[in-house]
Amino acid sequence: MSSVQHLATAGICVYLCLAVRLAAAPASLEEEKAPAYWNERARRTLESALNLAPVTRRAKNIILFLGDGMGISTISAARIYKGQLAGGPGEDSQLAMETFPYVALAKTYNVDRQVPDSAGTGTAYLCGVKANAKTLGVSAAAVYGKCNTTWGNEVYSVLHRAKQSGKSVGIVTTTRVQHASPGASYAHVVNREWYSDADLPKEAIRQGCKDIAYQLVHNTDINVILGGGRMYMTPRRTPDPEYPTDPKQSGTRKDGLDLVERWLSGKEGARYVWDKKGLDAVDENSTDYLLEDKDYRQQAAVPLDTETHAGEDVAIMAKGPMAHLFHGVQEQNYVAHVLAYAGGLEPYHTGPATVPLDTETHAGEDVAIMAKGPMAHLFHGVQEQNYVAHVLAYAGGLEPYHTGPECLAPSCRAGSPAPPPVLLLRARGLASLLLTARL
Ligand SMILES: *[C@@H]1O[C@H](CO)[C@@H](O)[C@H](O)[C@H]1NC(C)=O
Ligand SMILES: *[C@@H]1O[C@H](CO)[C@@H](O)[C@H](O)[C@H]1NC(C)=O
Repeated sequence: MSSVQHLATAGICVYLCLAVRLAAAPASLEEEKAPAYWNERARRTLESALNLAPVTRRAKNIILFLGDGMGISTISAARIYKGQLAGGPGEDSQLAMETFPYVALAKTYNVDRQVPDSAGTGTAYLCGVKANAKTLGVSAAAVYGKCNTTWGNEVYSVLHRAKQSGKSVGIVTTTRVQHASPGASYAHVVNREWYSDADLPKEAIRQGCKDIAYQLVHNTDINVILGGGRMYMTPRRTPDPEYPTDPKQSGTRKDGLDLVERWLSGKEGARYVWDKKGLDAVDENSTDYLLEDKDYRQQAAVPLDTETHAGEDVAIMAKGPMAHLFHGVQEQNYVAHVLAYAGGLEPYHTGPATVPLDTETHAGEDVAIMAKGPMAHLFHGVQEQNYVAHVLAYAGGLEPYHTGPECLAPSCRAGSPAPPPVLLLRARGLASLLLTARL
């Protein structure tokens, strides 16, 4: 099975769950008046809970979905809306991710903030270390905006560690790929807004700090990158391929680097595409690397793939104000890291977010993690957010859990070569479905 097909599994499982749920007729109010209705329903739930057994083998694939703004009340609202779209009252509906057997809560605070931001939280759940707000891929010993506090304080993401252990990795996002949430998987930077070199203060450039776009291409050898943000990748005034007449879309780099060219150079089987047509034309069998640098405002319009697959090894987590789906498929040595980042599900905003804001909205409350598949049972209880990365690393047999007595299952010693990855667009379709990007 190609990695392309495997990745499709992620989307498909959820799609099937949705289809099944949509097909199930909602209970009538009359039925709900009878105790037998509730007793029978709960008995079936109890039965499946009694049959629940932890899957203790190592995951071959990991997919993490993250829905920014996807707090628990947003999940409830989405569930009800889905049920209403299916013609029922909605409350008894169920989202695909709500069928996952394991749920935990994550405490999201940053080291220096009760109410966190995406950069500090991204560092926690991707790198496994709680950090300061607005800093990416550095520990809390690094100081926001102080370039020379970066070095020596870098922390490395599960994605980076997966790549180092020989797996294929990818990032898919509805935002620009240099945004804080995806950024924490490859960048080490003391200011999340240092998107291109034009955003760095002179002092930081003098001290040798690099912008996030530069680090995207130089830090970790990422196989698949799908998202927006190409203006940070090309020299100033380079016309945008999609909006050549709009100067606001042009390249912004002052150092004259063409990071797309740089990414492509020296890579066998690498493709760069910038629109859906180009993406559809990619030959998945001969492509080992894919960079799609798309206008992120259009990312949510990708249709969900409709292939079918049993997908029994899917492990998913959801977490809001960020939401994650963590996915492990057996049989191949592939770790994909998917970040779907949607900046809030607008119609269902809860809390005091009715004032105009110029950044994303986060709350300080705990968020849900929903998980399925190998080691998913380790998501339990109320945990610090950085625990997420540790479970991912453990499930995948990655550093620091790659050797030693923890490595008990035979599968964690398997080391088949990584197959080419390519089909993140399907996963992206799923992300769009689940997360409905706010634009
Ligand atoms: C780091 O840079 C600041 C200026 O931003 C300077 O005051 C400080 O001495 C530098 N620290 C080191 C260790 O170089
Ligand atoms: C890729 O390979 C599979 C299996 O070998 C084949 O069915 C499919 O048609 C190929 N796709 C393309 C675009 O060549």
